[in-house]
Amino acid sequence: MTHSPDQQPRERGMRLLFIGDVIGRAGRKAIQERLPELRRRWALDFIVVNGENAAGGFGITEAICDEILAAGADCVTTGNHVFDQREALVFIERQPRLLRPVNYPPGTPGRGANLYTAENGRQVLVVNVQGRVFMDALDDPFAAIEREVGACPLGMACDALLVDIHAETSSEKMAMGHFVDGRASLVVGTHTHVPTADGQILPHGTAYQTDAGMTGDYDSVIGMEKEEPLRRFTRKTPGARFEPAQGEATLCGVAVELSADGLARRMAPVRIGGRLAQAKPDFWEDEGETRGWRLVEEIGAPRR
Ligand code: FE2
Repeated sequence: MTHSPDQQPRERGMRLLFIGDVIGRAGRKAIQERLPELRRRWALDFIVVNGENAAGGFGITEAICDEILAAGADCVTTGNHVFDQREALVFIERQPRLLRPVNYPPGTPGRGANLYTAENGRQVLVVNVQGRVFMDALDDPFAAIEREVGACPLGMACDALLVDIHAETSSEKMAMGHFVDGRASLVVGTHTHVPTADGQILPHGTAYQTDAGMTGDYDSVIGMEKEEPLRRFTRKTPGARFEPAQGEATLCGVAVELSADGLARRMAPVRIGGRLAQAKPDFWEDEGETRGWRLVEEIGAPRR
């Protein structure tokens, strides 16, 4: 879309970016190097980053959480590895921008949903929930989401509503997308560490992608150095620890622009840097160019 100066641009929709599981040092480096620039260039209003594998591939420390927030994230979500670094049991209580799955048992430290005020003054509800298929037997994720969405309805109690479903199976994530279609701005899957090609706006207006993909080195087995996973698959003998792969990470996620009602107007996958085919929203480039930015020369453009 282009518009001449005498044309009235349509109302600017809220711009969200969700970044998938940050894996170890390589993933953190991509966040540090790219997120501040993306926030500025795309004029992002709210950024959520899944950080549950940020500390050596397992869990998150307070220093790393602070680092991700300082890079421009408004909220850090997690999943089954949330408490792998035991300090998270303590600091999650004093860090309202860090979420753990909402369907953990009552009494678990931290919170699974929170309402934030974006820079533009809009209210954003983020809910982190964990699937149960091939995972720990937590409380029903659908009942938990029903509770949270019901308590803070989109368009009434909040202007945007994001759900990070941390789950193993595509079916459970897809079912969650349809469960809240029309009631959430974005439902995005994490945990499987591979971006899926099914990004879409569901029939009732919720942006959806089964897996955002990890922000890690893709010359790996889901972010880990290949040798140990391969050894465990080929021989059933105990071996070394899993170590995060250290090559250049691909920053992976989903970009969404909302309409005034909080539902998705457009969405696009994001893959910047590293080994994967590059992707970014083309719909924010026009506006960038009217502001004098040459987004085609953007950070992370694929090398030829
Ligand atoms: Fe996970």
